[in-house]
Amino acid sequence: MLQQKIQYKPYAEKDFSSLKGLTGISDKTLEIHLGLYSGYVKNTNILNEQIIELTEQGKTGTPVYSELKRRYGFEYNGMRLHEYYFGNLKPGGSELKDTSKLGNAIQQVYSSIEVWKNDFSKVGSMRGVGWSILFQDPFTKTLSNHWITLHEEGNVAGFVPILVMDVWEHAFLLDYKPAERPKYIEAFFSNVDWSAVESRLLA
Ligand SMILES: [Fe+2]
Repeated sequence: MLQQKIQYKPYAEKDFSSLKGLTGISDKTLEIHLGLYSGYVKNTNILNEQIIELTEQGKTGTPVYSELKRRYGFEYNGMRLHEYYFGNLKPGGSELKDTSKLGNAIQQVYSSIEVWKNDFSKVGSMRGVGWSILFQDPFTKTLSNHWITLHEEGNVAGFVPILVMDVWEHAFLLDYKPAERPKYIEAFFSNVDWSAVESRLLA
Protein backbone atom coordinates (compact mmCIF):
# COMPACT_ATOMS: atom_id res chain seq x y z
CA MET A 1 0.00 0.00 0.00
CA LEU A 2 1.22 3.52 -0.86
CA GLN A 3 2.47 5.27 2.29
CA GLN A 4 0.81 8.72 2.51
CA LYS A 5 2.93 11.38 4.21
CA ILE A 6 1.85 15.00 3.83
CA GLN A 7 3.63 18.08 5.16
CA TYR A 8 1.54 21.03 6.34
CA LYS A 9 2.50 24.41 7.81
CA PRO A 10 -0.32 25.98 9.87
CA TYR A 11 -1.57 29.43 8.88
CA ALA A 12 -0.85 32.28 11.30
CA GLU A 13 -3.43 34.91 12.19
CA LYS A 14 -2.53 38.44 11.05
CA ASP A 15 -2.72 41.39 13.43
CA PHE A 16 -5.28 44.04 12.44
CA SER A 17 -5.55 45.76 15.85
CA SER A 18 -4.32 49.04 14.28
CA LEU A 19 -7.70 49.40 12.55
CA LYS A 20 -9.41 50.77 15.68
CA GLY A 21 -11.05 54.16 15.07
CA LEU A 22 -12.55 53.56 11.64
CA THR A 23 -15.17 56.03 10.42
CA GLY A 24 -18.72 54.63 10.64
CA ILE A 25 -17.54 51.14 11.62
CA SER A 26 -17.40 50.87 15.40
CA ASP A 27 -14.57 49.35 17.41
CA LYS A 28 -17.09 46.84 18.78
CA THR A 29 -17.98 45.71 15.25
CA LEU A 30 -14.27 45.50 14.44
CA GLU A 31 -13.59 43.44 17.58
CA ILE A 32 -16.37 40.95 16.81
CA HIS A 33 -15.36 40.80 13.16
CA LEU A 34 -11.72 40.09 14.01
CA GLY A 35 -12.95 37.31 16.30
CA LEU A 36 -14.80 35.75 13.36
CA TYR A 37 -11.67 36.08 11.21
CA SER A 38 -9.70 34.30 13.92
CA GLY A 39 -12.20 31.44 13.73
CA TYR A 40 -11.57 31.03 10.00
CA VAL A 41 -7.82 30.76 10.54
CA LYS A 42 -8.33 28.16 13.28
CA ASN A 43 -10.84 26.18 11.23
CA THR A 44 -8.64 26.19 8.13
CA ASN A 45 -5.84 24.71 10.23
CA ILE A 46 -8.16 22.15 11.81
CA LEU A 47 -9.47 21.12 8.39
CA ASN A 48 -5.95 20.68 7.06
CA GLU A 49 -4.96 18.53 10.04
CA GLN A 50 -8.06 16.36 9.85
CA ILE A 51 -7.86 15.90 6.08
CA ILE A 52 -4.20 14.86 6.35
CA GLU A 53 -5.02 12.47 9.19
CA LEU A 54 -7.78 10.79 7.18
CA THR A 55 -5.54 10.64 4.11
CA GLU A 56 -2.74 9.00 6.08
CA GLN A 57 -5.22 6.53 7.52
CA GLY A 58 -6.40 5.62 4.02
CA LYS A 59 -9.90 6.98 4.71
CA THR A 60 -10.30 9.17 1.63
CA GLY A 61 -13.34 7.21 0.49
CA THR A 62 -15.39 8.15 3.56
CA PRO A 63 -18.24 10.69 3.78
CA VAL A 64 -16.33 12.53 6.53
CA TYR A 65 -13.35 13.04 4.22
CA SER A 66 -15.64 14.31 1.42
CA GLU A 67 -17.36 16.80 3.69
CA LEU A 68 -14.08 18.15 5.07
CA LYS A 69 -12.72 18.53 1.53
CA ARG A 70 -15.88 20.34 0.42
CA ARG A 71 -15.68 22.63 3.44
CA TYR A 72 -12.15 23.76 2.71
CA GLY A 73 -13.02 26.56 0.23
CA PHE A 74 -15.41 28.10 2.76
CA GLU A 75 -12.92 28.21 5.63
CA TYR A 76 -9.82 29.11 3.59
CA ASN A 77 -11.57 31.83 1.59
CA GLY A 78 -13.18 33.08 4.80
CA MET A 79 -9.67 33.54 6.16
CA ARG A 80 -8.13 35.13 3.06
CA LEU A 81 -11.04 37.36 2.05
CA HIS A 82 -11.10 38.84 5.56
CA GLU A 83 -7.37 39.51 5.28
CA TYR A 84 -7.95 41.34 1.99
CA TYR A 85 -10.87 43.23 3.57
CA PHE A 86 -9.08 44.36 6.72
CA GLY A 87 -5.93 44.91 4.67
CA ASN A 88 -7.68 47.44 2.45
CA LEU A 89 -8.87 49.59 5.36
CA LYS A 90 -7.21 52.20 7.53
CA PRO A 91 -8.62 54.74 10.01
CA GLY A 92 -9.21 58.00 8.16
CA GLY A 93 -9.06 56.33 4.75
CA SER A 94 -7.48 58.04 1.75
CA GLU A 95 -8.37 59.42 -1.68
CA LEU A 96 -8.34 57.55 -4.97
CA LYS A 97 -6.93 59.92 -7.55
CA ASP A 98 -7.97 59.85 -11.24
CA THR A 99 -4.31 60.04 -12.22
CA SER A 100 -3.13 57.10 -10.07
CA LYS A 101 -2.28 53.72 -11.59
CA LEU A 102 -5.43 52.21 -10.08
CA GLY A 103 -7.56 55.23 -11.06
CA ASN A 104 -6.38 54.87 -14.65
CA ALA A 105 -6.97 51.11 -14.69
CA ILE A 106 -10.53 51.64 -13.42
CA GLN A 107 -11.23 54.35 -15.99
CA GLN A 108 -10.06 52.10 -18.82
CA VAL A 109 -13.10 49.92 -18.14
CA TYR A 110 -15.58 52.16 -16.36
CA SER A 111 -15.90 55.70 -17.71
CA SER A 112 -15.07 57.28 -14.35
CA ILE A 113 -14.21 56.32 -10.79
CA GLU A 114 -17.74 57.39 -9.78
CA VAL A 115 -19.32 55.04 -12.34
CA TRP A 116 -17.13 52.17 -11.12
CA LYS A 117 -17.83 52.96 -7.44
CA ASN A 118 -21.56 53.06 -8.12
CA ASP A 119 -21.37 49.66 -9.83
CA PHE A 120 -19.24 48.18 -7.01
CA SER A 121 -21.75 49.51 -4.45
CA LYS A 122 -24.71 48.07 -6.38
CA VAL A 123 -23.02 44.67 -6.46
CA GLY A 124 -22.48 44.97 -2.69
CA SER A 125 -26.15 45.87 -2.22
CA MET A 126 -27.38 42.59 -3.69
CA ARG A 127 -29.58 40.55 -1.39
CA GLY A 128 -27.92 37.80 0.59
CA VAL A 129 -24.59 37.51 2.37
CA GLY A 130 -21.30 37.65 0.53
CA TRP A 131 -18.69 39.99 -0.87
CA SER A 132 -18.34 42.68 -3.49
CA ILE A 133 -14.88 42.39 -5.04
CA LEU A 134 -12.98 44.34 -7.67
CA PHE A 135 -10.89 41.71 -9.41
CA GLN A 136 -8.07 41.90 -11.95
CA ASP A 137 -7.89 39.35 -14.75
CA PRO A 138 -4.25 38.16 -14.76
CA PHE A 139 -4.37 37.47 -18.51
CA THR A 140 -5.84 40.74 -19.80
CA LYS A 141 -5.06 42.88 -16.67
CA THR A 142 -8.65 44.17 -16.94
CA LEU A 143 -10.60 45.10 -13.80
CA SER A 144 -14.19 44.04 -13.06
CA ASN A 145 -16.63 43.94 -10.15
CA HIS A 146 -17.99 40.60 -8.94
CA TRP A 147 -20.31 39.13 -6.32
CA ILE A 148 -19.10 36.22 -4.17
CA THR A 149 -21.70 34.20 -2.29
CA LEU A 150 -20.65 33.07 1.21
CA HIS A 151 -16.87 32.97 0.65
CA GLU A 152 -16.37 30.44 -2.06
CA GLU A 153 -19.01 30.69 -4.76
CA GLY A 154 -18.31 33.04 -7.65
CA ASN A 155 -14.53 33.32 -7.37
CA VAL A 156 -13.14 33.43 -10.89
CA ALA A 157 -10.18 31.14 -11.60
CA GLY A 158 -6.92 33.05 -11.26
CA PHE A 159 -8.53 36.48 -10.79
CA VAL A 160 -6.71 38.66 -8.25
CA PRO A 161 -8.73 40.46 -5.53
CA ILE A 162 -7.93 44.19 -5.68
CA LEU A 163 -10.61 45.78 -3.47
CA VAL A 164 -12.62 43.53 -1.15
CA MET A 165 -15.79 44.56 0.70
CA ASP A 166 -17.51 42.28 3.21
CA VAL A 167 -21.30 42.58 3.03
CA TRP A 168 -22.18 39.81 5.45
CA GLU A 169 -24.49 41.32 8.06
CA HIS A 170 -21.94 40.81 10.85
CA ALA A 171 -19.87 43.51 9.11
CA PHE A 172 -22.41 46.25 9.87
CA LEU A 173 -25.42 45.08 11.90
CA LEU A 174 -24.23 46.57 15.21
CA ASP A 175 -23.87 49.98 13.54
CA TYR A 176 -26.71 49.98 10.98
CA LYS A 177 -30.12 48.43 10.40
CA PRO A 178 -30.30 45.55 7.88
CA ALA A 179 -31.89 47.89 5.32
CA GLU A 180 -29.10 50.44 5.82
CA ARG A 181 -26.43 48.49 3.97
CA PRO A 182 -25.82 51.50 1.63
CA LYS A 183 -24.77 53.55 4.69
CA TYR A 184 -22.26 50.85 5.64
CA ILE A 185 -20.96 50.82 2.07
CA GLU A 186 -20.38 54.59 2.25
CA ALA A 187 -18.60 54.09 5.60
CA PHE A 188 -16.48 51.36 4.02
CA PHE A 189 -15.40 53.72 1.22
CA SER A 190 -14.45 56.44 3.71
CA ASN A 191 -11.94 54.02 5.27
CA VAL A 192 -10.27 52.57 2.16
CA ASP A 193 -6.48 52.57 2.09
CA TRP A 194 -6.09 53.12 -1.66
CA SER A 195 -2.31 52.71 -1.68
CA ALA A 196 -2.73 49.22 -0.14
CA VAL A 197 -5.38 48.47 -2.77
CA GLU A 198 -3.21 49.75 -5.62
CA SER A 199 -0.27 47.67 -4.44
CA ARG A 200 -2.28 44.52 -5.29
CA LEU A 201 -2.40 45.41 -8.99
CA LEU A 202 -0.35 43.11 -11.19
CA ALA A 203 2.46 44.79 -13.09
FE1 LIG B 1 -16.83 39.11 7.67
